[in-house]
Amino acid sequence: MADIDTAKVVATLNRILEAELAGVVRYTHYSFLVFGYGRIPIVSWLRGQANESLMHAQHIGEWITTLGAYPSLAIGPLLDSHVTDIATMLRESLGAESGALELYRDLLKLVEGRHVALEEFARQTIQAEELHASEVDKMLRKPGELAPVSRTAG
Ligand SMILES: [Fe+2]
Repeated sequence: MADIDTAKVVATLNRILEAELAGVVRYTHYSFLVFGYGRIPIVSWLRGQANESLMHAQHIGEWITTLGAYPSLAIGPLLDSHVTDIATMLRESLGAESGALELYRDLLKLVEGRHVALEEFARQTIQAEELHASEVDKMLRKPGELAPVSRTAG
């Protein structure tokens, strides 16, 4: 097995860490702003997403120190568009999630065939993130509508 380019892998892991930490803040923030009849299940779904982002961030941070590097304390971009309607929140989070998915794909390219455990981690996380994106996409469809709102390539 060829060696990984540790500097490049760590740089990508740090960008993913920042994106996941931004997800924790973003989902938590959205969860405060849900009003109306659907509030209770939507708030709990948003907080579940915040927890999942935190779990991903923790896994990534552990990988960074496993590779002997220093985890970033920065946080990815956050836009405060003062949205309180759920469709806009979901569209914004779908956009941010597809950015994170790209980073996981970059990670996969860097470790594929070179580091079994990191490759496995990248693949599993890509699968989880894609399922999550498809869930959001389905929430954005009108009842009875089959066509995806967005397309995420496998
Ligand atoms: Fe994630």
